[in-house]
Amino acid sequence: MTIRFAIITCSDTRSIAEDSAGAALEDLVRADGWDVISHVVVTDERASISQAIVKAADELDADIILTCGGTGLSLRDNTPEATADVCERNVPGIAEAMRAHSLAITGRAMLSRALCMQRGSHLVVNFPGSLKAARENWDGIHEQFQHAVEMTAGAGH
Ligand code: MTE
Repeated sequence: MTIRFAIITCSDTRSIAEDSAGAALEDLVRADGWDVISHVVVTDERASISQAIVKAADELDADIILTCGGTGLSLRDNTPEATADVCERNVPGIAEAMRAHSLAITGRAMLSRALCMQRGSHLVVNFPGSLKAARENWDGIHEQFQHAVEMTAGAGH
């Protein structure tokens, strides 16, 4: 079963050509045999991020939406709030796993406010925005994506 991913990079300064973390996430998705159906860059404006999440879920029908960046403590870091604005259910274990895995690498992992939430049957996962951090966080969680999507679709164990 393939999984359809949408990637939304949240940055006031980065263009798609400069989005090395988003490009790395694309490569990592494809390396697992899954599909990237969309990759966009939006500003750090809360409404821009939430609109992009709604489009990826409701129009593009992505199974998993990876946001990239905007999870930190700067006052322009709005990604977790934008995610919560348009999602109903928290999936705390995935964000906990990202931080647990990352804290073994750097104490700075505690500065990510990343959330993982569901909008209906669509899973939204907040990634940090640096290339290094995006790769490390992927390593911590990607093995559970297949089962997560199957369970969302109603499969049993
Ligand atoms: N997680 C991992 N695995 N590796 C990292 O280098 N950097 C942290 C954290 N998570 C980091 C990490 C830092 S320095 C910050 S500020 C937060 O992610 C938030 O990053 P963001 O604002 O780009 O989303």
